[in-house]
Amino acid sequence: MRILGIESSCDETSASIVEDGVRILSNEIASQIDIHARYGGVVPEVASRQHLLAIIPIVRQAMDKALTGWHDIDAIAVTNGPGLAGSLLVGVSAAKAVALARGIKLIGINHLEAHIYANWLGKTIPEFPLLCLIVSGGHTDLVLMKDHGAYTLLGKTLDDAAGEAFDKAARILGLGYPGGPAIDKAARNGTPCIELPYSWLPGTLDFSFSGIKTALYRLVENNKISNPSDAAASFQKAIVAILVAKTISAAEECGVKQILVSGGVASNSLLREQLVRKSPVPVLIPEPLLCTDNAAMVAACGYFRLITGAQDGLNLDVIPTLKLL
Ligand code: KG4
Ligand code: ZN
Repeated sequence: MRILGIESSCDETSASIVEDGVRILSNEIASQIDIHARYGGVVPEVASRQHLLAIIPIVRQAMDKALTGWHDIDAIAVTNGPGLAGSLLVGVSAAKAVALARGIKLIGINHLEAHIYANWLGKTIPEFPLLCLIVSGGHTDLVLMKDHGAYTLLGKTLDDAAGEAFDKAARILGLGYPGGPAIDKAARNGTPCIELPYSWLPGTLDFSFSGIKTALYRLVENNKISNPSDAAASFQKAIVAILVAKTISAAEECGVKQILVSGGVASNSLLREQLVRKSPVPVLIPEPLLCTDNAAMVAACGYFRLITGAQDGLNLDVIPTLKLL
């Protein structure tokens, strides 16, 4: 089954062709990072306009790269939430237009579920039961996955998401946007020698990152940071230590066979290294390009939904606050 995936929930317009949910034939991404960088974050109205400009060229590019015509496409999978309403509307409207014009099946996909399915695009096929750590700009969730579509939420952030914390810390340290990659890079030239308050929230699998970020802000405000690279290394160490410890205790509690990591923060080098080294079970992490937003993960997820008989009509709408659970 050949699926066209479309993703436009935030600041990347992406289209991809994936075969049988596991083989990527093309995965084209038009990033708006440079445009939003000057504002220090994503400006929703600017994002929607850029999606409008990019959507048709990116779908064409994905079709051309995969040497695919419309008659070879069995279904279209499109992110319909969560995300920015205007951005989501561009992808969903394009998907509906093609579905109507060409008589192709349509399915709306939850962006968070798509992040999980990025792990089906790697060399190792995941084995249930699994523990998923979803770490993105908007979410930090620990989810038990017993089968396709069978999720139990074990823990979540009570305030900032991990990616949001990285972005805010980078802004505080003047390291630029997007903050996660900037902190990751700066941390390589620093030593984690600055003490920050770790919020462990003992007895729960929930997370809290806003206290660490505020502590960093106070240190900068009081001129206590002389080397931003040391601060980046210390901040990264704190966030990663908490993510790793909670993920491993959840994996042990639930007796899972594997841990899957997904979302933009899954491309963090320290998180990748520490989880793989400390986990008692195998850890699957997509290659960095498949961790951040892309349409291949949407197409992969679409395949596993469609084979259960799921399908949407042309009344498919965007749900900016859509939840996985
Ligand atoms: O999944 P994603 O592309 O978009 C959302 O669905 O939110 O994640 C974006 C987030 C941003 O907060 C970005 O700073 C973070 O992922 N990120 C990283 C790294 N690369 C991206 N955080 C830490 N280290 C990285 N290397
Ligand atoms: Zn995402």
